[in-house]
Amino acid sequence: MSNLVAVLPGDGIGEEIVEQAVRVLAALKLDLQLEKADVGGRAYDQFGHPLPESTLNLAKKAQAVLFGAVGDWKYDTLPREFRPEQAILGLRKNLGLFANLRPAVLYPQLANASTLKPEVVSGLNLLIVRELTGDIYFGTPRGVRTAEDGAFKGEREGFDTMRYAETEVRRIAHIAFQAAQKRQKKLCSVDKANVLETSQFWRDIMIDVSKEYPDVALSHMYIDNAAMQLVRAPKELDVVVTGNLFGDILSDEAAMLTGSIGMLPSASLNASNQGLYEPSHGSAPDIAGKNIANPLATILSAAMMLRYSFNHEAAAQNIEQAVAKVLEQGLRTADIYEEGTTKVGTVEMGDAVIAALTSS
Ligand code: NAI
Ligand code: MG
Repeated sequence: MSNLVAVLPGDGIGEEIVEQAVRVLAALKLDLQLEKADVGGRAYDQFGHPLPESTLNLAKKAQAVLFGAVGDWKYDTLPREFRPEQAILGLRKNLGLFANLRPAVLYPQLANASTLKPEVVSGLNLLIVRELTGDIYFGTPRGVRTAEDGAFKGEREGFDTMRYAETEVRRIAHIAFQAAQKRQKKLCSVDKANVLETSQFWRDIMIDVSKEYPDVALSHMYIDNAAMQLVRAPKELDVVVTGNLFGDILSDEAAMLTGSIGMLPSASLNASNQGLYEPSHGSAPDIAGKNIANPLATILSAAMMLRYSFNHEAAAQNIEQAVAKVLEQGLRTADIYEEGTTKVGTVEMGDAVIAALTSS
């Protein structure tokens, strides 16, 4: 396994938030080699492409990519293939990143940020594992055609294909079971097996793979019920695994439970635990360069990187506990500030996390 990390800050606040994550990693004195490259709009400006060959090659060589964010309104008029956002799609595709891991964590100190009652969400800590490269988003055939049967025969119709190959379900199942092993050993698979053939197949494979993980308790839930349970009793869930379509919706719903977009990390992995780690938020051009962006989502993404790509569980927890500690100390960037707490800038937040790390 390589110890190389490709550091791709990107646009907007990317540079300033990734810098804090890099400082935190450096403070841990791990055996990692960090190499920086351009991506997104800034790469387009310099190389004429949002994902230049040199950047892609670095990412392929690396065990992990630490990504900031890409995008700015000034690139909105470019043809699609040159838009900054294409860089993420290109990295996902080239690295085969099929598993998207999105934790939704609500620190007790930030419970007021949620639209739900504090007692329902305070201390929430769940992980959604979303399959990212299959399902109805990519299934073929798809398009618009003349209906050949049914009540609307002869009319134009739009259609897509929901499909999952056995390999696709098995590999996401393994990622999810292994993530559950690192947590509460509870995995809930979300599907619509009462209606969809694809979902019944998904469920059968989940049950089969579960035999390899006797220490993990597998349960199943229909997607409509899962959407309800997420707002009724989200703390009853720990790790949730689901397909691309259901996962898209559930992971955004779960993110909103926390109310703090500046706090949410994410990971996208392949079967060799090579991964791309980035905050769930975008490049926030409205606040770029002002030292007010919240770096915690990116710092927490670096913690996920240590956990999933480098198997440094202790160092990952060290970072996560340091983040909890600075919140306990009352330090807040502007986006999570409330009366009675202390407002700090991006760099000061990075300083505080570094100071809160335990030396081992
Ligand atoms: P955004 O997430 O960048 O910003 C939404 C709002 O949240 C803004 O008011 C922003 O100031 C605030 N915000 C976001 N991150 C923050 C942080 N760390 N600290 C404090 N406040 C924060 O989403 P928006 O405005 O829709 O998109 C801006 C650009 O980002 C667009 O070009 C979009 O395409 C791109 N984008 C990129 C993503 C990526 O790189 N993965 C994901 C989402 C959007
Ligand atoms: Mg979405």
